[in-house]
Amino acid sequence: MAKRNKITVVGAGNVGATAAHWIAAKELADVVLVDIVEGTPQGKSLDLAQAAPIDGFDVNLKGANSYEDTKDSDVVIITAGLPRKPGMSRDDLLKTNADIVGKVTDEVAKHSPNAFLIIVSNPLDAMAQVAFQRSGFPKNRVMGMAGVLDSARMRCFLAEALNVSVENVTAFVLGGHGDTMVPLPRYSTCAGIPVTELLPKEQLDAIITRTANGGAEIVGLLKTGSAYYAPSLGAVEMAEAIIKDKKKILPCAVYLEGEYGINNLFVGVPCKLGKNGVEQIIEISLTNEERAALQKSAGAVQELIDVLGI
Ligand code: LAC
Repeated sequence: MAKRNKITVVGAGNVGATAAHWIAAKELADVVLVDIVEGTPQGKSLDLAQAAPIDGFDVNLKGANSYEDTKDSDVVIITAGLPRKPGMSRDDLLKTNADIVGKVTDEVAKHSPNAFLIIVSNPLDAMAQVAFQRSGFPKNRVMGMAGVLDSARMRCFLAEALNVSVENVTAFVLGGHGDTMVPLPRYSTCAGIPVTELLPKEQLDAIITRTANGGAEIVGLLKTGSAYYAPSLGAVEMAEAIIKDKKKILPCAVYLEGEYGINNLFVGVPCKLGKNGVEQIIEISLTNEERAALQKSAGAVQELIDVLGI
């Protein structure tokens, strides 16, 4: 009998609960939803389980306040932490969320020593680094979700501007998940055609700016929280690539040791994800300007790491 895969989602807020929803709807794995708030993970899991007969997905859904039930998960998606409020930068969350992510990682590593960790908590790149250090896991098993979200935002805006299917559009975003992220229109395409051939520079620049501020735009609209449909699906796409050994190239925050001239730091770059997690970091050639922008973005992540002293 084939064993079903198991994914733990830590944090039963909007991002975590919606991740559980996407996983279940795709019938990707059994899901354990964990949160410190009593009743919330249990209630949301039960509600989702009651949706199963309508949509026809057969997975086990369990809510928990402790980690026993998470034992031997294949993938753990960490969304725990405080979300941004209007006017707050991702970096304001630094110390509080580092503490939360550190404690969660200790529990996760204890109960699922062979799991792949996908971090979604902000500030993203620094939280991935916290999880990497606290878990002691090898670098191929710890990654942050940001590039999938940032490039999805750019694809959404490009498809709208070009009036084409989102399926025709690819987008390339490098760097940290923050205002210094580096969208690369040169490597972004519509049906294989670089978008630089299809849209005027001013329009592309506006799309790049909107992409870099994509999270803040939604925080400003929601007022009480941050985005969750696209962030959660970004994490689930990464989990799916690993579980199904898809060898899918996705932009992920990973630990760099010299790639792109960056050392000992989590920064977003294109990676191949398969059954061994991060199987390859893909290095592309950059113009001097693009390389400088990436260095600046990595510098912003390094500042956070320095503040944390890790
Ligand atoms: C965003 C937040 C979650 O980009 O970082 O929407």
